[in-house]
Amino acid sequence: MKLTELTEKIHDLQSLPSVALQINNEVKKESLTSKTLAAIISNDPPLAAKILKLANSSFYGLARQVDTLDRAVTVLGLNTIKNVALTLSVCSIFKKNAANPSIDIEGLWRHSIASGAAATILINNSRPTEKEKAFLGGIIHDIGAITLIMAFPEESRLVFKKIQEAGMSQTAAEQEVLGFSHQEAGAFFAEKWHFPQEIIDAIKFHHADYTQDDLKKISNKKLVFSVYAANNIVKVMGLGKSIDSEVGTIPKFIWKELNISEEVIPSLRAAIKDEYDLAANHFTGEGCC
Ligand SMILES: [Fe+2]
Ligand SMILES: [Fe+2]
Repeated sequence: MKLTELTEKIHDLQSLPSVALQINNEVKKESLTSKTLAAIISNDPPLAAKILKLANSSFYGLARQVDTLDRAVTVLGLNTIKNVALTLSVCSIFKKNAANPSIDIEGLWRHSIASGAAATILINNSRPTEKEKAFLGGIIHDIGAITLIMAFPEESRLVFKKIQEAGMSQTAAEQEVLGFSHQEAGAFFAEKWHFPQEIIDAIKFHHADYTQDDLKKISNKKLVFSVYAANNIVKVMGLGKSIDSEVGTIPKFIWKELNISEEVIPSLRAAIKDEYDLAANHFTGEGCC
């Protein structure tokens, strides 16, 4: 089977909300301004309302309430609001598939939030823009799993069988049944949706072995490694529910790139759990996306 068959199978079923596509296009053209961002979001009133609600929640802890989108962009910043809009757009793809009996969507969404929360800690960078990028990378890393289940329900059931009964890894089972993996499918869609290359790489390499060839292709190693490590750590911590429980080892060069010494790794778990609780509080439940 070819990866391009995904587009024919999926049509508009998996289409990213147009707000996210417009935002990604503006970012690509380097023409996203506070004004254009507020205008794009305003065209989707339910999304605008959710963003305002989130902006005023304890997630951002603003001293004063904001009552307009323009104000929210001014106070919280262009990048923050942009990433919130993208996160809610990814969430809406999960939600669209909530009734699918083949998969525990709520569990996978929580796994994605946990990966996002963990990646914000593991990227080990105090700049909010880097942390927000890491959060988005974690949120979106398994998006390909959903697209595969929707496009190939029969084959996906066989994939799950191979994972559960034959103990295969998700990637190996997908390769055997479909000829490509959920990380390849996710990267394929992220490219179609015009996400930046570093987010595409975070999806594409979240189960990688990191051969020399892989390493040469990665545009932002800190981001990719933070998502890779986050995906594995949250599985060990039991936060959310991933499709397979296989945990990859985190090689020393990843910790080195993230500038995290091995002695502090156990203590990071508490910070990850706190960050997850905060994010899960705001990105789950009715009306979150
Ligand atoms: Fe995955
Ligand atoms: Fe994952």
